[in-house]
Amino acid sequence: MNVYDSDRMTDLLAPLCYAITDTADGADMVILNTCHIREKAAEKVFSELGRLRPLKDSKAAKGEAMILAVAGCVAQAAGEEIIARAPYVDMVFGPQTYHRLPEMVAQATRKVGSVLDTDFPTESKFDYLPKTARVENNAAFLTVQEGCDKFCTFCVVPYTRGSEFSRPVDEILVEARRMAENGAREITLLGQNVNAYHGEATGPKEWGLGRLIREIAEIDGLSRIRYSTSYPAEVDDELIAAHRDVEQLMPFLHLPIQSGSDRVLSAMNRRHNASQYRDLVERLRAVRPDIGLSSDFIVGFPGESEEDFEQTMALIREIGFIQAFSFKYSPRPGTPAAMMQPQVDEDIKTRRLAELKTLLDDQQTAFNLDCVGKTMPVLLEKMGRHEGQLVGRSPYMQLVHVEAPHDLMGTVAMLKIDSSHSNSLAATLVLDDPLIRTA
Ligand code: 5AD
Ligand code: SF4
Repeated sequence: MNVYDSDRMTDLLAPLCYAITDTADGADMVILNTCHIREKAAEKVFSELGRLRPLKDSKAAKGEAMILAVAGCVAQAAGEEIIARAPYVDMVFGPQTYHRLPEMVAQATRKVGSVLDTDFPTESKFDYLPKTARVENNAAFLTVQEGCDKFCTFCVVPYTRGSEFSRPVDEILVEARRMAENGAREITLLGQNVNAYHGEATGPKEWGLGRLIREIAEIDGLSRIRYSTSYPAEVDDELIAAHRDVEQLMPFLHLPIQSGSDRVLSAMNRRHNASQYRDLVERLRAVRPDIGLSSDFIVGFPGESEEDFEQTMALIREIGFIQAFSFKYSPRPGTPAAMMQPQVDEDIKTRRLAELKTLLDDQQTAFNLDCVGKTMPVLLEKMGRHEGQLVGRSPYMQLVHVEAPHDLMGTVAMLKIDSSHSNSLAATLVLDDPLIRTA
C-alpha cells in the first residue's frame, strides 16, 4: 500500500514540476514514506533522517533547498516526536492527508516552521487525487479499501490508518480501466483488510470484494487480478465463488493466520480459531485445487507457551504454505498486547522464529522444486540482469527468469520451468504456444 501511496504522491507533485529521481543526493525533495507495523521500522526512519541531513545541509550550503518529509504511519503515530527529534524535517503527514501535499509544499517553501498534518480528515483523499499516471512493470496496485476495525491486540494499524473505509465501485472501476489503458496487465487490489470491502454501487446493494473482482475481470487487457491482505474471518461465499469462476483471479492467496493456537488467537483478538481457518482453506481448495497459500505468523506473542508454538508448527505442516512471512512479536506502545504478561524472552523468540522459518523455507523450496518441469503463464515484467533475459512473475508470485525476445515484455507468456534457485525459477519459452505467435 505504501507503493501505491508513493505513486499517488508522485502524481500529485508532477504539476509542481517534481519528478522521481534515483538518488536522494541533490534532490529537491525527499519523502520517506514509512511503515509503523513493527518497532524496527520506526527506528529506521530516524537513522534514515540522520543520513539525509548532511545532503540537505550541503544543498543549503549551495543556496538551494531540499524539502525533507516524513509520510505514512510513523508520521501518523509519532509526528510530534519526529519534529522534536529532527527539527530539520520540513513536512510530517499521515497516510490520510497526502492529497494536501501541494498546500504543504507551498507552506514549507514559505518557511513557516515544520508542517505537521496527521488529521483523519472528513474528506476522502481519494476525491482529491489526480488521475493515476504511473504504472510500473505492467503490474499495478489499486487501493480499494483502507483502515481496519478489527483491533488485533498486537497491531497498530487501526490507530494509524483509521477505521475501515471502502471506495465506491465506480471510482475503482474508472481507476482500474485507466491503469489497463496505461499498460497494466495485472492489478492487485489493496486494503489493510481488503475482503472487508463493501463499496457503494449503483443499485440498492453494496458490493463485496467477490462482486468487484468479477467486474474488474471484464476490463479489456487485464489478464491478472490479485488482492491483499485478507482477514480470514471475513472471507465470504461470494469471494470463494470468484476463485472458482474468475479465470483472471490468480490461484494465490495471502491469508494471515498469525498463530495455530486457539489460546493465542483469542488473546490476539483474532475473530477466528485454527479449525475455522482449516475449514476455510478446505473450502478454497475445493473450488480451486491449485490455489497456493501464503500467511503471516507471529512468534513470541505474550503468554505463548512451547505447546502453543508447537500448534503453530503443526498447523503449518498440515496446511502447507508456498510462501510466508514470520515475525517476532514486537510490542507496540498503546496496543493492548504490549501490556500483557508474561512477555516472551528475546532468546526464546529468536529460537522459535528460526524453527518456524526453517519449516516455512522447506515448504517453499519443495513447492518451487515441484514446479520444475511444469508449464505456466508468466507475466514478463522487466529486463533481467543478462542480455536477452526477461524477468516475470508466475501465478504464484515466484520470480521467473527466461531468455526471450524483448517484444514479449508486458505479455503473459507460457514458460516451461527448468530449474529452481533460492529466490527464483529459471524457464524456457514454450515456442508453439499461441500466445507467443500473437505477441
Ligand atoms: N509484532 C510482530 N508482528 C506484527 N505484525 C503486525 N503487528 C505486529 C507486531 N506488533 C505482523 C502481522 C501482520 C503483518 C503485516 O505484520 O503478522 O499480519
Ligand atoms: Fe492489524 Fe490486520 Fe488485525 Fe487489522 S486485521 S488489526 S490490520 S493484523
